[in-house]
Amino acid sequence: MVAWLLSASCTLLLSLGAVADNWPFETYSTGPWTPPQIQVTKTGEVDPGYIFVGPRGNQEAGTAALIYDNNGDLVYQGPNEVTSNFRVQKLFGRDVITFWAGDMMDLGFGYGAVHILDDTYKEIYTVKLQEHFLTPDGKPRDSYIDLHESHVTPRNTLLVTAYNVTQHDLTEIGGKPGQYMLDSHFYEIDIPTNRILYSWSALEQEAEIPLHNSTQALGDAGSQETPWDAYHLNSVETTNHGFVVSLRHYWSGYYLNPDGSVKWQLSGKDGADFDAPDVAFSWQHDMRVFNETDEGLVLNLFNNANNPAERESVSTGMSLNVDLKNYKATTMRNVSDPNDDVYSVSQGNFQFMGHEGSNHTFMGYGSIAKVKEFDVNGNLVLTAQFGQLDATASYRGYKCGWRATPFWNPVAVAKRTSDNAANVFMSWNGATEYDNWAVYSAPSKDSNDTTFIDSYKRTGFETKASLSNLDTPYIQVVARQGDKPLRASEIINF
Ligand SMILES: *[C@@H]1O[C@H](CO)[C@@H](O)[C@H](O)[C@H]1NC(C)=O
Ligand SMILES: *[C@@H]1O[C@H](CO)[C@@H](O)[C@H](O)[C@H]1NC(C)=O
Ligand SMILES: *[C@@H]1O[C@H](CO)[C@@H](O)[C@H](O)[C@H]1NC(C)=O
Ligand SMILES: *[C@@H]1O[C@H](CO)[C@@H](O)[C@H](O)[C@H]1NC(C)=O
Ligand SMILES: *[C@@H]1O[C@H](CO)[C@@H](O)[C@H](O)[C@H]1NC(C)=O
Ligand SMILES: *[C@@H]1O[C@H](CO)[C@@H](O)[C@H](O)[C@H]1NC(C)=O
Repeated sequence: MVAWLLSASCTLLLSLGAVADNWPFETYSTGPWTPPQIQVTKTGEVDPGYIFVGPRGNQEAGTAALIYDNNGDLVYQGPNEVTSNFRVQKLFGRDVITFWAGDMMDLGFGYGAVHILDDTYKEIYTVKLQEHFLTPDGKPRDSYIDLHESHVTPRNTLLVTAYNVTQHDLTEIGGKPGQYMLDSHFYEIDIPTNRILYSWSALEQEAEIPLHNSTQALGDAGSQETPWDAYHLNSVETTNHGFVVSLRHYWSGYYLNPDGSVKWQLSGKDGADFDAPDVAFSWQHDMRVFNETDEGLVLNLFNNANNPAERESVSTGMSLNVDLKNYKATTMRNVSDPNDDVYSVSQGNFQFMGHEGSNHTFMGYGSIAKVKEFDVNGNLVLTAQFGQLDATASYRGYKCGWRATPFWNPVAVAKRTSDNAANVFMSWNGATEYDNWAVYSAPSKDSNDTTFIDSYKRTGFETKASLSNLDTPYIQVVARQGDKPLRASEIINF
């Protein structure tokens, strides 16, 4: 029984099993978008911005990068693909969209590429990693970037994780010589050229990160097909003097020197290098550094406190004060919704929003299809659910400011209701800057010598106008901000 639970704990990390799922999906007249409905509950004043998620579940519909507004209306649906880390980041001083897309393995990691889009949704960079990696099935992949991290650094480089299958002597943890394990790597990559600037391997630091300190039991793992996931590196970012990495399977964050050696370890189990009696976290994700000086820093993290086989406590968002003069760590913030105990067994993130001066935090619950926003005092202000709780996951979920004017045109579809009347449906996938539609009648399919009919306030993703007494069966619609025209649709016929 114990062995079964342990092997379940690695195979269930990212796959969702055959859980029944009848969550409702939205459909539209103007195109094939089918996002899951998102149920938004507000209990306080929310910050501006949009909700970014990349859900995946048992239903093929809605497995895509999705942006919703604070009312739960769809703003953007990307192509149907498995994504992670869909969000806005700053690159060369501009807001860009970044996300990973690729194959998620049942073993709890993935192979894919990182896509970077500008504010017209044009793909300006595609980042791939094409080193020599061994895979569980022995087959090569086009790019070895793992799903867990795609972080743009202040020096405009990209930090990504990568998992390699490698043979190692596992006798010290009760295994055999020459068994297979996963080494956790991270890479810093020059975005325009895909050149590797820096790489790190956890196994190369075995003296300071000993295998016997892993909290992940070997169980039935140890073959090439089912390698032992010793570390489970799931976040990395640059710091003033190196990097900070999160190793989920060590319940620890590590501050790394520029040469890759460990400067310090903060463990959620026993503090490790720190005196930390009130600090407790486990199976964590998304470690982020704030306010770093040589005397200390703030470390934020998503404390899963659960894995598929083990429950420590409810999942929370934590801010830890790390005092580097006295090597003491204390809990500054430990955020959760007291009316909704969420036990997230995998994935998740804790975002200190920071944009536009915000003091709010935003939590993606990973294996549980929910995100929540909290105010500066840790009070819940928003909950949004986008799938059946155990049947849909989003690796992370973010709230981001975003302004986009797509390179594609708005779409209009007309449905005749009588000889000279029609319902016109209008949408512009991804556009954030329009607030109304101007509707025109046109003399013919080829003439844009149009006559203004009326304007219609934007109502969510798709707006409907009921038109009557039309002189011609040709219509054109223009997305506008106030009186300012932004972009016209094709002339359509009903
Ligand atoms: C991955 O592991 C294999 C051995 O299993 C090794 O040959 C290869 O160099 C490793 N790749 C990297 C990037 O370390
Ligand atoms: C790691 O292992 C050492 C023994 O090598 C032990 O003293 C220490 O408590 C362990 N740390 C954790 C966090 O398990
Ligand atoms: C954080 O909050 C959770 C939920 O209230 C609680 O179970 C846990 O003990 C708290 N942890 C710390 C370190 O305060
Ligand atoms: C960083 O410090 C500022 C000023 O003391 C504080 O307002 C802010 O909350 C800190 N950031 C975090 C993430 O704790
Ligand atoms: C955020 O908190 C800081 C420090 O408490 C405060 O100075 C600032 O006005 C707050 N910002 C917002 C947008 O509430
Ligand atoms: C109308 O048609 C002319 C000629 O084809 C074109 O230059 C102009 O951009 C069109 N205007 C709109 C609003 O589509």
